Amino acid sequence: MKRLISIILALVLAISMAACGSSGGNTEGNTGNKSENTSSAASETSEEPADSSEAANNVDAANSVETADSVEIADSTEAANSVDAADSVETADNVATAENPATASSRILVVYFSRTGEQYTVGVIDHGNTTIVAEMIAEGTGADLFEVLPVDDHYPMTYDELTDVAKKEQNDNARPAYAGEVPDRSQYDTVFIGAPVWWGDWPMIMYTFFEENADALSGKTLVPFSTHEGSGLSGFDKKLSSAIPAGNVLKGLAIRGNDCQNKQDSVRETVNDWLTELGL
Ligand SMILES: Cc1cc2nc3c(=O)[nH]c(=O)nc-3n(C[C@H](O)[C@H](O)[C@H](O)COP(=O)(O)O)c2cc1C
Repeated sequence: MKRLISIILALVLAISMAACGSSGGNTEGNTGNKSENTSSAASETSEEPADSSEAANNVDAANSVETADSVEIADSTEAANSVDAADSVETADNVATAENPATASSRILVVYFSRTGEQYTVGVIDHGNTTIVAEMIAEGTGADLFEVLPVDDHYPMTYDELTDVAKKEQNDNARPAYAGEVPDRSQYDTVFIGAPVWWGDWPMIMYTFFEENADALSGKTLVPFSTHEGSGLSGFDKKLSSAIPAGNVLKGLAIRGNDCQNKQDSVRETVNDWLTELGL
């Protein structure tokens, strides 16, 4: 009997152990699943740093763009500054060249008057026709430039109004004042003098210039030039001789205003041929 009971107990023990073993397998399976979830979560998590490193990269990229931009801005500011600097150097050079013989690179001065705004046949311009010719002469000869600018700029920017003001000045034989210091004329042998033809004549502000500088320009070689829309030189040379009798007036040049805006290559050629003919 005892032997039977111990056999039964041993059987029960064996059955219950088998049951335990089967429940441990399930646990393993769950853990596996869990670990799968965890690993997918981990891979999501690992995407996050990837994302943020991407984001970081983007930030870096953004930063470097920003840096590049600011370099660009810095560069363009620098460029702008150096343009400014160049401008002021140019201005300063002109003044220095005119007033300091030690730095003089040229014995030629180009004096000119010119208008922007609405002009005949060319519409609204931001670089006056006569300015364009004056600059070509300066380029061709290495001359200094002096622009005759009105003290108070009373000249209208529309063509019709400008013609009225100009006509009135001519009728009144006015002498409008010009601004700025004319460079020391004693530094120059030759002075080119140019302007647009206004009502068949020099603009009256140029007579102000002639009268105020007649003494300083006596004995100099004077070379007139005009821009116009049909009147040519309009007697600029003779009128200049009358205004500055002691000047030696050479052959002048007349250029169509419209060509200054629209045919610059041919204008430049004409200007250079004329300079060669003058021996300058
Ligand atoms: C007030 C005024 C009067 C003008 N009178 C004449 C003229 O008598 N003969 C002519 O050919 N052109 C005349 N023009 C045209 C200018 O001489 C021509 O457009 C010139 O190239 C303008 O030069 P600017 O841009 O340097 O001012 C006149 C223009 C203006 C504004």
